[in-house]
Amino acid sequence: MAFTAHTRKKIAVIGAGFVGSTTAHWAAQKELGDVVLLDINEGAAIGKTLDLAQAATMEMFDTKIKGTSNYADIANSDVVIITAGMPRKPGMSRDELIGINAKIVKDVCAGIKQHAPDSIVIVVCNPMDVMALYAKQQLGFPKERVLGMGGCLDSARFRTFIAEECGVSYKDVTGVVVGNHGDAMVPLVRTASVGSVPLIDMLPADKIAAIVQRTKSAGAEIGGHLKTGSAYYAPSRGAVEMAEAILKDQKRVLPVAVELNGEFGVSDKMMVGVMCVIGGKGLEKIIDYKFNADEKAEFEKSVNAVRTLCEGLKTVQ
Ligand code: LAC
Repeated sequence: MAFTAHTRKKIAVIGAGFVGSTTAHWAAQKELGDVVLLDINEGAAIGKTLDLAQAATMEMFDTKIKGTSNYADIANSDVVIITAGMPRKPGMSRDELIGINAKIVKDVCAGIKQHAPDSIVIVVCNPMDVMALYAKQQLGFPKERVLGMGGCLDSARFRTFIAEECGVSYKDVTGVVVGNHGDAMVPLVRTASVGSVPLIDMLPADKIAAIVQRTKSAGAEIGGHLKTGSAYYAPSRGAVEMAEAILKDQKRVLPVAVELNGEFGVSDKMMVGVMCVIGGKGLEKIIDYKFNADEKAEFEKSVNAVRTLCEGLKTVQ
């Protein structure tokens, strides 16, 4: 059998702010592929990638890392992660960022469409579900190749709070959050577990309710402490969890915002977090999770929250 040269994978990260540069860090450290970090502030992109590359002989990662402001440098990227956008300030809702971030996403998508038209795009900037939907409209890519990162982050937070409340290893908790990446998100309490023990058998209802509430407000909690920005370690790791599933064709089952065309009764192309199989093609399957009545009502509220927010896109030039 002829040997085919192994072409290295390539990841482009758009935005060299806290989320973008930390995304580049996680991706480089995990050797997922060569990394291009792009920002309109070229100095930030170059400075941060030079710094990151100089850790390679200590952390032992053979990843080529480049900083740039030129979209031509993202050519042939397998995955493009959009982190560019303003983060929330304390007291701000994610929703207030629509106008500002839609304009940024529009410009970013023009660069991706021109230079990486075959890439799979992961959208992180907020309000994420709406920005992912807007990016898909701007890119014109098939639904399989435009994914929103919110559920991976919210689910990780949900599992973190469960592990800490139960006093168990972070490794032994399963739990997923679907719906929008916002106050109407839907932590799936019924199917969460510690080891193989259902969460509802591990903790009393009031403790579970407190975990659900803290999961919903975890982003605002961190922003309240930081004062001048928002979370970036876990959000960037969520984006890299999805990128790894794509680049290694892992067939991971992850909560990802994808366009719904009839699934769960949503037929107006809304994008919201649902359980998906994520692999080399991007979205490979939407899992038909059987909501119970309460979960279905919460999920519908969550979809409606995205629908309402999409109204804000009508004023974007
Ligand atoms: C948060 C931002 C990423 O939840 O929305 O921290």
